[in-house]
Amino acid sequence: MWRIVRLFTLHDPTWSMSHEQLPTDRPAVVTVGLPYANGDLHVGHLLGYVSGDLYARALRRIGQQTAFVCGSDMHGTPIAVNAAQEGRDPEEFALEYHEQYQETFPRFNVEFDNYGHTHDETNTELTQEFVRTWIDEGHVIEKEIEVAWDTETDDPLPDRYVEGTCPYCGEKARGDECDEGCQRHLEPGEIENPVSVTTGNPAEYRTREHKFLRLSDFQEYLQGFLDRLEGTEKARNQPREWIEGELEDLCITRDMDWGIDYPDESDGRENLVLYVWVDAPIEYVSSTKQYTERVGAEEYDWEAVWKPAGETRPGTEWNDEWTDTSGEIIHVIGADIIQHHCVFWPAMLRGAGYNEPRAVVATGFVGINGKSLSTSRNRAIWAREYLDTGFHPDLFRYYITTGSGVEHDVDFSWDRFAERVNGELVGNLGNFCYRALLFASRNYGGTPAADTSEEVHERIAEAVETFEEATRTYDVRTLGEVAIRLADFGNQYIQRNEPWNLIDDEPDAAAQVIHDCVQLTKACAILAQPVMPAKAAELWAQLDEDGDVSEATLDEVFSAPPETFDEPTELFAQVEDDDIEALNEQLAERIETKEEADEKAETEEDGDESHEAMTAQDVDPLEDERISFEQFQDIDMRVGEITEADPIEGADELVRLEVDIGVETRQVVAGLKQLHNVEALPGTRVILLANMQKAELFGVESDGMVLAAGEEADLLTTHEDAALGKRVR
Ligand code: 2FM
Ligand code: ZN
Repeated sequence: MWRIVRLFTLHDPTWSMSHEQLPTDRPAVVTVGLPYANGDLHVGHLLGYVSGDLYARALRRIGQQTAFVCGSDMHGTPIAVNAAQEGRDPEEFALEYHEQYQETFPRFNVEFDNYGHTHDETNTELTQEFVRTWIDEGHVIEKEIEVAWDTETDDPLPDRYVEGTCPYCGEKARGDECDEGCQRHLEPGEIENPVSVTTGNPAEYRTREHKFLRLSDFQEYLQGFLDRLEGTEKARNQPREWIEGELEDLCITRDMDWGIDYPDESDGRENLVLYVWVDAPIEYVSSTKQYTERVGAEEYDWEAVWKPAGETRPGTEWNDEWTDTSGEIIHVIGADIIQHHCVFWPAMLRGAGYNEPRAVVATGFVGINGKSLSTSRNRAIWAREYLDTGFHPDLFRYYITTGSGVEHDVDFSWDRFAERVNGELVGNLGNFCYRALLFASRNYGGTPAADTSEEVHERIAEAVETFEEATRTYDVRTLGEVAIRLADFGNQYIQRNEPWNLIDDEPDAAAQVIHDCVQLTKACAILAQPVMPAKAAELWAQLDEDGDVSEATLDEVFSAPPETFDEPTELFAQVEDDDIEALNEQLAERIETKEEADEKAETEEDGDESHEAMTAQDVDPLEDERISFEQFQDIDMRVGEITEADPIEGADELVRLEVDIGVETRQVVAGLKQLHNVEALPGTRVILLANMQKAELFGVESDGMVLAAGEEADLLTTHEDAALGKRVR
């Protein structure tokens, strides 16, 4: 039953219209968003890397030649600010983290074919080549813009050197991104109420000349690109609203000395580097190129992936014939960088004459114990911490990739981890394989001779079909679950057929059941390999199968398992309550210690800082500009009552509300899904901004705005029973 539902919900028939079905006979590359080399890795990062690794392994499994590449993101203010805080040179600082990441990923069985970094020679040269092509093709223009400046230190304040308010949603934003609100990219000069993060001074805006990639050149191309794009729904649909209306140019330079130099020598300006979001995605190409340089173009040809056959063809249009000759480029990213990958990056590629991505898979975020992961509050599980527990990395891989659908948020808690490992891995997969192999080796010395029964053959074929379809629809969760579901069937099959009661009186029937169970075990090993590569290899060895399970093809699920093998050992060990209790305490203590330290620091600051400075840090600064009473009169706010509330499919935060404002009922879209119990919203009295311009979000028209305060979206209401429709003055 579940399978039928999955096919209907995930398969989007429009995809197959532009792309040949996977596997194709062209090489594929799977990439994961580059980690900024500026801090320790935690489970939030690992979701992306494990999902990407799982997906790349699944693609290979269905017969697609695949390289899995990534690298560290070494440039930009995320590195410069953190290095400066520690008084260190940014290169040395970032390289240290780069090396740490290189060691950490394999410990989670995340095995890149190439892991480079953005500061290496390959990426520096390729990035400058991209920019030169854009210049030659006339896509780069120069403009005078306002950039934030610290007047006290007389320093420019690019990107993360400033914090302020997002001009689009009013949330607190830092530098070039609205990371706590609407997730939009912010251009220099856009952030409101800018304050320097290093000195706390209010920043001033000064006029500077900068280079821009003229994105509007690619407007039409991007419409077509989004129609062709495969991947998760949010990645394909969210960018549509961003490319409506004239596209804003992308500022590609910064006043900094850390980064890749702007390549146009005639410019002669010092301390002008490329914006980090120029050289970062180009590392996807550079890393693939380095892989080819290592293994040879006969083994894997990076140009066949990234460049149209023949020669590069820069321009602003896409020729549909190129789709059939392009390599399969698949990006796995976090949902916060969809705009960069689905708007900026395809335009950058097209402008330089490269192929476009086939799919963008945007993962959700990882929460901890039902709350959002927050490194500043110490509410995080660090990669090192997980490894220190001694739990096998494959347990984490399974938990994190199957905890929810790939584009939805997934919660990590030690309790749930224990529950799922004990129930699904120990109790289901581990239990079935152990029972089957133990019975087989004790009674037959290995696999008893028989042909696989029709029922079991069909069930395995169905699992294979599910696996292939999940790969084609980028359904990471199903890929992680398929072997567990097969083992579940196996447990029911062995229980129903009771071979232990057949072995004396009906030996042929017993042999048939056990043969089937060993065949199912072999299929489980092959299908579980992408999610649990080391555990699958262990199972493969227990079956005494030749070679490496990572190289087994999907067809091998049907070939007979070895006639002889030894008694197995248990694949998974039970997670003990005491261990979980200790881990929970450790986490709670860490969060508490941090809270106490923050409170103490706040109290101390209170003593010697002015009230004004505290206010500026804790809440949005007050607007300097006053409005007249007449201007206020223009704002039409009404008392209303929510009469209906439904989550909007595909949007993580949005709900559709019907709000009764006495004279009429308005349909409004509001970002309340994560912060309120949607079912409990009807009956809530609210204040509605009734003359807000209409907008369309996720295809739903919003006719008004419900007012709410702060990050928790505390809904504004009335104190007494003012009638619905009354004006708020
Ligand atoms: O947001 C980030 O963490 C960036 N370092 C991701 C870069 S992904 C890419 F485009 F390179
Ligand atoms: Zn915003």
